[in-house]
Amino acid sequence: MIVGAQWGDEGKGKIVDVLAQEADYVCRYQGGPNAGHTIIFGGDTYKIRQIPTGILSGKTAILGAGCVVDPEVLVGELDSYGDRGTFWLSGNAHLIMPWHVAIDQASERRLGKLQIGTTRRGIGPAYADKASRLGIRVQDLLDPKILRQKIEIALAEKNLWLERVYEAETFELEDVAERYESYARRLRPYVSDTSLLVDEALRAGKSVLFEGAQATLLDLDHGTYPFVTSSNPIASGAATGIGIGPNRLDEIIGVAKAYVTRVGEGPFPSEIPSPLQERLRELGGEFGTVTGRQRRCGWLDLVALRYAVRLNGFTSLALTKLDVLSTFAEIPVCVRYVLPDGTETPHFPAHQSDFHHCRPVFETLEGWEQPLDDELPEAARAYVEFVEQELDVPVRLVGTGAERERVLARS
Ligand code: IMP
Repeated sequence: MIVGAQWGDEGKGKIVDVLAQEADYVCRYQGGPNAGHTIIFGGDTYKIRQIPTGILSGKTAILGAGCVVDPEVLVGELDSYGDRGTFWLSGNAHLIMPWHVAIDQASERRLGKLQIGTTRRGIGPAYADKASRLGIRVQDLLDPKILRQKIEIALAEKNLWLERVYEAETFELEDVAERYESYARRLRPYVSDTSLLVDEALRAGKSVLFEGAQATLLDLDHGTYPFVTSSNPIASGAATGIGIGPNRLDEIIGVAKAYVTRVGEGPFPSEIPSPLQERLRELGGEFGTVTGRQRRCGWLDLVALRYAVRLNGFTSLALTKLDVLSTFAEIPVCVRYVLPDGTETPHFPAHQSDFHHCRPVFETLEGWEQPLDDELPEAARAYVEFVEQELDVPVRLVGTGAERERVLARS
């Protein structure tokens, strides 16, 4: 299984794509179209948000029960890529409805300076309805009468909220019902018991890859709340989100960038000051796949990565975009935090205020100042080994460029 070890955008898509070549099934277990994977191969760039990227390589792609699904996005992706592989969708996954997107947008607007910086795709409101047991699920698409009834019940309340609380546009029952019925006709053949499918695949000795969306520090329970997403990207979320036992996950690969980026608001101890930050952003092309937003950039934060190792139980790491650091003469790495009371710690602060006010302690490593090839230069090797020693986890893959081939395997 593959999990983002930082705040997202670690290049998981590419690692999933590389490992998917040897897998039979590729599954997503949480999140929705807030994720955006960019895959480059054969000279083409693919941006995919909802379906697991394995579909591009002809694999069986699965969206599990823990996902939220925007049917408009999904239908668009099925139109573009559906015939490249096989696709199944859990009937227990929840649907993102148009009011979820409207509420996400209106709520962020209303929060003003206190906003979370969401992707505004309706993720939080869809998961909130799921937790409130008011959600509409994929299986509701199977029966037009039930679907219409559920939309009607939901709209009676959502329209009041939109109008009275958010002073936003309301929705017409007929419009929504018609739109969703047309998605339903398209999606019905793909609805399946995906927990059973995955269990049977595992029992038959097939290779199943679980693809985390978002990342560890965006985890609803263990991330940097409230600047998190509304699901559980961490490894254990795969068992819940697919519907298999946690003992079925035998290999857990954390994907970390050789530096750190973050989209949206929230504290970021190793954030690089201007203008160096802009230089790294340009070198790394750090602009959002889904939103096009600039990503904030920082030096590698081993305190946060140590926490990710604890939360996920990584058996190995993939360190991506090492090539982006190739022009720097010196590369600082954050090894500890200084807390507001002056104490130094290698551990991620449990209390939000400590995290908001901590300062990074850097160790400066030597840069390699040359492009990366199949053989890593001495200083680049030392950088990777430093990460392994600090975290006590082997780095098995190193990303040295955007294309699929530019991944080095280390034993
Ligand atoms: P939401 O998932 O749209 O509710 O956004 C919540 C937080 O997660 C915001 O800080 C987003 O920027 C962040 N986020 C959500 N999806 C991604 C992703 O795929 N990459 C990076 N950050 C993400």
